[in-house]
Amino acid sequence: MGVLLLVHVLLVAVAASAPAADAWGKEGHYMVCKIAESFLTEEASTAVKELLPGWAGGDLAEACSWADTVRFRYKWSSPLHFADTPGDCEFNYARDCHNTKGEKDMCVVGAINNYTAALKDSSSPYDPSESLMFLAHFVGDIHQPLHCGHTDDLGGNTIKVHWYRRQSNLHKVWDVNVIETAMKDFYDNDQSTMIQAIQQNITEEWANEEKQWETCRSRTKTCAEKYAAESAKLACTAYEGVEQESTLEDDYFFAALPVVQKRIAQGGVRLAAILNKIFGGKSRLQIQSS
Ligand SMILES: *[C@@H]1O[C@H](CO)[C@@H](O)[C@H](O)[C@H]1NC(C)=O
Ligand SMILES: *[C@@H]1O[C@H](CO)[C@@H](O)[C@H](O)[C@H]1NC(C)=O
Ligand SMILES: [Zn+2]
Repeated sequence: MGVLLLVHVLLVAVAASAPAADAWGKEGHYMVCKIAESFLTEEASTAVKELLPGWAGGDLAEACSWADTVRFRYKWSSPLHFADTPGDCEFNYARDCHNTKGEKDMCVVGAINNYTAALKDSSSPYDPSESLMFLAHFVGDIHQPLHCGHTDDLGGNTIKVHWYRRQSNLHKVWDVNVIETAMKDFYDNDQSTMIQAIQQNITEEWANEEKQWETCRSRTKTCAEKYAAESAKLACTAYEGVEQESTLEDDYFFAALPVVQKRIAQGGVRLAAILNKIFGGKSRLQIQSS
C-alpha cells in the first residue's frame, strides 16, 4: 500500500470514528433494530425489506447506523439525534425541541414524528428509504438517556471521565462503554448472545410491561415525547455523583447495565410497533432466535 493511500485510509478511519461519540454506538443501534425485526408483522417486514437499499442485504439492522454516516453530509440532520434539556429531569416539547438556531421540531422527537408521517404518506416528497433509515436510527437514539441529557454539557459530552482505566466522557459511557464492557464480561464478545439475552427478558421477565411499552393512543403522532421524557428522567440519575475526571467502574457499571439493556429492549419493541402501524398487518411474526 502506498504511503498516500495509507494516510488516506487513516484519515477516513478517524473521520468515520468521530460521529460515534454522538450516538448509541453501532452495537446499540444494531441490537435495537435486530429486536425490532423480530416483532414486525409479515406486512411490515416485507415493506421494510423493499425500502432498504441494496447494500443492507434485506437486514434492517445493517442500515441502523446509516444516519450517523450522513451527519456531516446532511448538516441539518445533526441536531435530530438528540433532545437536550435544561436539566430539570423533564422533557418539554415546546421548550426543548429545536436546533441551536431555534428552529422548532429540529430534535429527535420532531424527527421521529417527521419520518413516521413521511412513511405513511405515499405522496411525501422525502425519499422513503432514507425516511426508514432515519426513523429506525432515531428511535434507538431517543432511548439512550444521555440523548436527552443536559444542554450545558452537550448531553454529557463535555464531562470527561475515566471508564475503569480508560479516558471517556459521560455521553460515551452510555453510548458504547457499558455495552462493550458487558459484551466482554458476560457475552463472550458476541453480539447475538447479548441480543438473545435481552429477547428472553422481553418474553419472560418483562412480558407484562412489554404491552405497555407499545401502547400509544395518539392518532396523529407517535409517542416519542413520552420516550424522551423517560430518557430525561433516567439521565438525571445517570449524572448523579459524576463530576469532571470522575472514575466510573463496577458500581456505576452494574447500575447502568440493566437500564441500558431495558432501553434497548424498549427501543426495539417500539420501533416495531411504529413500523407495524405504518405498514399494517395483524399477524406478528414469531420471535426468531437470531
Ligand atoms: C423532515 O425530513 C426532511 C427530509 O429528510 C428534512 O429535510 C427535515 O429537516 C425533517 N424535519 C424534522 C423535524 O425532522
Ligand atoms: C433481565 O431482567 C433482569 C430483571 O429486570 C435484569 O436485572 C437483567 O439485567 C436483564 N437482563 C437482560 C439481558 O436484559
Ligand atoms: Zn444518532
